[in-house]
Amino acid sequence: MASELATAFTDDHRVFTRGLSRILRALRRDDHATAVALAEELDRAVGPHIEFEEQVFYPILVESLGRDFVRQLYREHRIGQDAVGALIAHPRDKPLPASDRDRLIEQLETAMEHALSCGTLLSHVTSKDAAEQQRLLDRLEDIGRRGNRWTELPAGRGSASEPSGPPR
Ligand SMILES: [Fe+2]
Repeated sequence: MASELATAFTDDHRVFTRGLSRILRALRRDDHATAVALAEELDRAVGPHIEFEEQVFYPILVESLGRDFVRQLYREHRIGQDAVGALIAHPRDKPLPASDRDRLIEQLETAMEHALSCGTLLSHVTSKDAAEQQRLLDRLEDIGRRGNRWTELPAGRGSASEPSGPPR
């Protein structure tokens, strides 16, 4: 049971970091159409994982890591969400201005650093007892069934300007 939660969580993070690095590669070679297609894919693929982190996992982290630390995690999600949303909104057949591209690369690099460090926080839940881990796994699966996209999640929660999520 313990490993089931850990496996699900780690698999999700792999999808997240791989997706981000593929989008970054496409943007760096100015392949805008591919970057948009990959952003649409990532938006769907990681929505439930991000939602689980924000609703279930991050509030748990507040106990051990404190509000400021966790607020920053929410902010980093918003930065990635903004970038993915902006890419998806951009028409595929129109070139991306260099300044927009550079900004998106910067935002996605922040999201990438986040995804890499966020994956290491897993021990905060895998150290919990089996029943609690099963409860968390059930929540992860419930949220997965809802299948919300990343860009559908409320942008206000833990946003850079007005942190308002569970860490408050
Ligand atoms: Fe995260």
